[in-house]
Amino acid sequence: MIDLTPDRGILDPIETASRDEISELQQNRLAWTLGHAYENSPFFKKRFDEHGAHPGDFKSLADLAKFPFTVKQDLRDTYPFGMFATPREDLVRIHGSSGTTGKPTVVGYTANDISNWADLIARSIRAAGGRKGNILHNAYGYGLFTGGLGAHYGAERLGCTVVPISGGMTERQVTLIEDFRPDVIMVTPSYMLSILDEYRRRGLDPRESSLKVGIFGAEPWTNAMREEIQDAFDMHAVDIYGLSEIMGPGVAQECVETKDGLHVWEDHFYPEIIDPVTEEVLPDGEMGELVFTTLRKEGLPMVRYRTRDLTRILPGTARSMRRIEKITGRSDDMIILRGVNVFPTQIEEQILKCAGLSAHFQIELTRAGRMDAMIVHAEAMADASSTEARAASAKELAHHIKSTIGISSKVEIHEPDSIDRSQGKAKRVVDNRPKE
Ligand code: DLL
Repeated sequence: MIDLTPDRGILDPIETASRDEISELQQNRLAWTLGHAYENSPFFKKRFDEHGAHPGDFKSLADLAKFPFTVKQDLRDTYPFGMFATPREDLVRIHGSSGTTGKPTVVGYTANDISNWADLIARSIRAAGGRKGNILHNAYGYGLFTGGLGAHYGAERLGCTVVPISGGMTERQVTLIEDFRPDVIMVTPSYMLSILDEYRRRGLDPRESSLKVGIFGAEPWTNAMREEIQDAFDMHAVDIYGLSEIMGPGVAQECVETKDGLHVWEDHFYPEIIDPVTEEVLPDGEMGELVFTTLRKEGLPMVRYRTRDLTRILPGTARSMRRIEKITGRSDDMIILRGVNVFPTQIEEQILKCAGLSAHFQIELTRAGRMDAMIVHAEAMADASSTEARAASAKELAHHIKSTIGISSKVEIHEPDSIDRSQGKAKRVVDNRPKE
């Protein structure tokens, strides 16, 4: 893989600023956000008043803990436009997160918000190793989802030539990668695996592709998956994080030269880690639920939004801004099996240790009597799909799961190409337990 470490001179000054400068900026911007939310969003005014917190009480960063949390249900309760802090006419764009249960949660952006977002995505692509003049293949879905358009305008802002292909039509994805020869691809890691399958199906060598960097996010993925993709394509695989309630992609970004977790763009977002049960703020370094307050957002400022994503805050390395560790998973996706907590990412790591298995998998939850059970559905590689080879892979995977996670699970190894392919965010868990 080629070295893509950026020359420090091309970074935004804030990326290398001192911690004191960053803290001072955050304090000023937090004071602005709290005032703006209180004065212009009836939702936040009511919430602050009920909580006995007034923007005037905010004197130092530690005072943020006096303010109430915001949760996804608040967006549902105020659906569609009830949380905004600017008149609807001042919003130039709406996005929404794919509500699995009916209505999406709606978010809105002013022209300034959209411009700041483009700046942050441009900064993210640069941190990932992309540069002005690169061809960038954008396979994040376009539409209400923030991935496609978010990445698009940021890539244009950096000066890339964007191929706005969106998700799906995997054969065409490969044709265009071969014909246009992009340097950078932006896509979910699970869909990158589908693209890899298509390379192999056509007998093309993915290591010969033009791709130098993949910017993967929108779902949890492991360092084992990073190795898998990097090896397969001879390219850098870096992590991008974000959520629509806070902005979309580009809230935090991993740097290509270190690949050691994601730098939160702290000039725009203030991170906290809390204990999800007691709601107490935890010190840097401790695992818990990630909470964000926006620092510049006009249309939809967010105060202490509980993401449900689990990680910890680490000091800055390649940039002065603090990092979050690669996300283990969401509290919603945590499986509790006979008292043991399991995340799909832990299963992914074990599958990638088995040479006879592809990286596609799904976890099924069932209930026999009063006991929950987990069936891991994995898939044989084409050269390891005989009955004997599949039985050996099943035994190997069950053993890895037992010895590292500590649970007994049923493993079923299917024929090559039989597990549902993701076109965007993969659905890792299928819950077939009877509804209570
Ligand atoms: O997924 C925004 C995005 C688009 C991020 C493209 C990165 C790339 P939502 O649909 O609102 O927004 O989903 C947000 O996805 O709370 C996490 O649970 C998960 N997520 C996003 N990025 C990562 C990541 C977009 N890098 C939710 N690692 C978040 C793990 C991620 N989980």
